[in-house]
Amino acid sequence: MPNFVRQVCKDANAVGTTAAERIVAVLNDAAAKKGKATIALAGGSTPKQCYALMASEPLVKKVPWSKLHIYFGDERHVRPDNPDSNYRMVHEAMLKTAPVVKDQVYAIATDGKDPAADAERFEKLLKANFPGNDFPSFDLMLLGIGPDGHTASLFPGTPAPKEMTKWATWCDPNSFNPAIKPPVKRVTVTPPVIWNAAQIFVMATGAEKTPMLSKIFSDNEPADPPVSRLLRKCKGQVTFFLDEPAAKF
Ligand code: 6PG
Repeated sequence: MPNFVRQVCKDANAVGTTAAERIVAVLNDAAAKKGKATIALAGGSTPKQCYALMASEPLVKKVPWSKLHIYFGDERHVRPDNPDSNYRMVHEAMLKTAPVVKDQVYAIATDGKDPAADAERFEKLLKANFPGNDFPSFDLMLLGIGPDGHTASLFPGTPAPKEMTKWATWCDPNSFNPAIKPPVKRVTVTPPVIWNAAQIFVMATGAEKTPMLSKIFSDNEPADPPVSRLLRKCKGQVTFFLDEPAAKF
């Protein structure tokens, strides 16, 4: 059985509330121990409510904003004002109202033209901010899961899940699976960066995620897709915040 913790909540709202409270606790712990806390945010739709709760009473007063360094685990290769942008989602839910330190928010800069260049730029940013490390170690990494098993933007069938040396890479999920939405290229951290995080929180809701979660949690290492095995190599504790429909396995 992989070293995963399953936190089952009644519904998607409860997933957001429970995860937000736990995130704040982890960030305060890191800030108290090290004088700063680093978090890598997940994109997609599931974490939006959680981010909004962190920026609202009562939690907004408990987040160590002055010591918090906010990164993104992946980004859709669109301009930051595009409706599909993860940065835009996080800005609307949290950054525009929360007392963040602007210089401590590190968006994945995407000009929408050259994803390879933007992945290199993202890697340079991480290497500048995590000097001397094999791979950066975020205090907390937030992730989602797609029904196809992708996490961050490590999509099955693309080269991204196989990238073992770079800290950041890019991929075109639709080149392998035209059904992936939104149909845009992605820039993402690589598997070793996820494996090196001190703690990982995965938020997943809805019955469409159940078959993949059942694979991810299965005792026997799932053969395919390879990404369903990805989280097993995490050095840190992996906690899944699931709603009841997603957790029916
Ligand atoms: C993205 C994400 C991606 C997301 C999953 C789940 O940019 O889309 O980082 O990995 O977490 O696709 O997405 P939902 O939360 O919308 O189901």
